[in-house]
Amino acid sequence: MSTNDITAARHELAAARRCVVLTGAGMSAESGVPTFRDALTGLWSAFDPERLASREGFAADPHLVWRWYAERRQGASNARPNAGHLALVGLEARFEQFAIVTQNVDGLHTRAGSRDVLELHGNIVRTKCFAECGVRIDDPRDLPPGEPPACPRCGHWLRPDVVWFGEMLDAEVLERAERLAASCDAMLVVGTSGLVYPAAGLPSLARAAGARVIIVNPNPTELDDLADIVVRDTAARALPALFAAT
Ligand code: OAD
Repeated sequence: MSTNDITAARHELAAARRCVVLTGAGMSAESGVPTFRDALTGLWSAFDPERLASREGFAADPHLVWRWYAERRQGASNARPNAGHLALVGLEARFEQFAIVTQNVDGLHTRAGSRDVLELHGNIVRTKCFAECGVRIDDPRDLPPGEPPACPRCGHWLRPDVVWFGEMLDAEVLERAERLAASCDAMLVVGTSGLVYPAAGLPSLARAAGARVIIVNPNPTELDDLADIVVRDTAARALPALFAAT
C-alpha cells in the first residue's frame, strides 16, 4: 500500500477497462449531507441509531422516526452534488464498463448525472408501505397527508424506502454489485469507513478477482490493508485531481 500516490492511482485507472466506484457517506460530506452518525447531533443526539433506523424503532414510535427521516430528506434535497460527484460523471465515457455502487440514500450521484448507480441502501426520497403491501411512492409531492402518512392501498403506515438495521438489502441490486465487483479491473472506494457489510465486502471481492483497489478517504479505514493505493484526501478534492488530464 502506498499513500497519497495520486499519480500511481491515475495510471491504474488509465489502464483499467472496467471500473466500479464504491461510495459511502464521505462522498456527500462536502455537499453538506451529514454522515449517519454526524446526523445524530443536536435534537437527535439523545437517540440510539437503532431506535431511528430499524423496523422495531419505527413500530415503537412511527411519528418520531418519520420526523427524523423527513428532516434528513429535506437536507438531502437541499444539497447539491459536489465536485467529486461531478468528476465521476465525466469518468463514465473512459471505461468499457463503469458503475457506481453507493451506500448513500441521498440520490446525489443520479442528480449529478451518473447513469449507472446501484443504491445498496435505498433512497430517502422514496417511500414504501411498512406492511409491505407493494405500494411505493417515488415523489414526496405525491405523499398523502400525515406524519407518517397512511398507505393509500392498505391503510398501514408509509415508511422511507431505505435499508434499516436488521433488514436485507435488495437481492437483485446486491447480486449485481457483487458481479460487477468480481469482474472489474479497478475499484475506487470513496468516503466509506468499511464497517458495514455486505457493502464493505465488495473491495475484497474485487481484489480476489485481481482488480486494483484505490481508496480515497481523509482518514484511515478498515479497508486500507487491502488497498493497492490510498489517497488521503477528500472526495471533492481528490476525484477531480484523479481524473484530470495527465
Ligand atoms: P460512515 O459514516 O461510517 O463513514 C464515513 C467515511 O467518510 C469515514 O471513513 C470518513 O473518514 C469519510 N469521510 C469524511 N469526510 C469525507 C470527505 N470529505 N471525503 C471523503 N471521505 C470522507 O459512512 P459509511 O461508510 O457510508 O447504513 O457507512 C455505511 C453505512 O453505515 C451507511 O450506509 C448506513 C450506516 O449505518 C445503513 O443505514 C444501512
